[in-house]
Amino acid sequence: MPEDENKQFPKNFLWGASTSGHQVEGGNHDQWTIWEKANAERLAKDAEKLQGWRWNSPVWEDIKKEAKDPQNYISGKGIDHYNRYKQDFDLAKQLNLNAFRFTVEWSRIEPEQGKIDQEAIDHYKDYIKELKKRDMEPILNIWHWTVPVWFEQKGGFKHRRNLKYFKNFVHLVATEFTDDLEYVITLNEPNVYATFSYQLGMWPPQEKNVISMLKVYLNLVKAHKTAYYLLKQQKPNLQIGVATQLANIQAKDPHDYSDEFSTRIMRFGWNWWFLNRIKHEQDFVGMNYYFTDYYNGWFKRDDPTVPRSDLGWYMEPEGLYPILLRAWAHYKKPIIVTENGVADFKDEYRRWWIEETIVAMERAVSEGVNIRGYFHWSLLDNFEWAQGWWPRFGLVEVDRQRGMRRTVRKSAEWYAERIKKLS
Ligand code: BGC
Repeated sequence: MPEDENKQFPKNFLWGASTSGHQVEGGNHDQWTIWEKANAERLAKDAEKLQGWRWNSPVWEDIKKEAKDPQNYISGKGIDHYNRYKQDFDLAKQLNLNAFRFTVEWSRIEPEQGKIDQEAIDHYKDYIKELKKRDMEPILNIWHWTVPVWFEQKGGFKHRRNLKYFKNFVHLVATEFTDDLEYVITLNEPNVYATFSYQLGMWPPQEKNVISMLKVYLNLVKAHKTAYYLLKQQKPNLQIGVATQLANIQAKDPHDYSDEFSTRIMRFGWNWWFLNRIKHEQDFVGMNYYFTDYYNGWFKRDDPTVPRSDLGWYMEPEGLYPILLRAWAHYKKPIIVTENGVADFKDEYRRWWIEETIVAMERAVSEGVNIRGYFHWSLLDNFEWAQGWWPRFGLVEVDRQRGMRRTVRKSAEWYAERIKKLS
């Protein structure tokens, strides 16, 4: 059968790309902005040690100059997406995307406690309007790790008493924006945030305290539930979910007791714990997939050494398939792949990654898994948190040295063609 007759993805499948405000907008002022400035020198000095955090980068020689420069760690002007969003949406449209995930930055809308910036609200309203004008479904994400400075100063999500501030913000999002929306994501990767910011001490506020981590994690469950009911009250047919970081966790040797035991605990703790808690408060399961993790012995990661992305992450795109099947078996709710992508500045692996990913989704769809959409991370090269600017995740390359020039990568052209065939 010719390829284009073998349509497996539904007509209205969401083919999208995903972004987050702090990573692209430029001119943000939130807890990360402050932390970046305070830590840029240190991060640059420790760049070699931190390059891939856990695994070394295979392209260290190419990127070390950039990674050793403190400027690499300052989000600053971003890629000026706050001003260039229309041009960026045109690019997304050119790539045949019909959906786009973004955040509304709380720190812009409420820079001081209780003071709402109408200009910021108007900005995001126009942003949504411009997406719709291009027939792209706007997927609004309320929180992607950044918070206003005043909220962080009060202890952020560590204290239950602070949830009322988040609730007020969600209320504002519900009343101001949901008329034009069908989908809302409340939170991005609560597991990653709680772990990196409160247990490993690698991100602001750099705590290394398991109790703090657990408090934050539990408070984020509550934050989501509160947001869910508020949003539903405003618009009952809104589709609401969380973008969770789900890894395809595997035992290196399934017959080995310690490999298997570690795998089960990690699957439960990392993948299912949060989702189990909100299973009645989600209309779809949002999953960000980047990792297949192999366990060898007691809680010891032991991934194959190749192939590795620029961040040193072991790449197994087809690992999306088993995790789609497991998420479907657990929750029987539609699934949206809310993020998926690869740091690859030479654009060597990206096409292969996307191709394997589409095959993994096709296999899952053909077995009855209800997948509603796929959002590539990311449309544009962006600020990769504590690693800064050197990791390049974009379908579109951005040259920050040359007027923020945007250039569509070869892999993106291929992705665009593939979407055309599949839609
Ligand atoms: C996060 C993004 C990040 C991407 C690549 C995801 O975990 O949501 O903000 O840029 O991974 O590391």
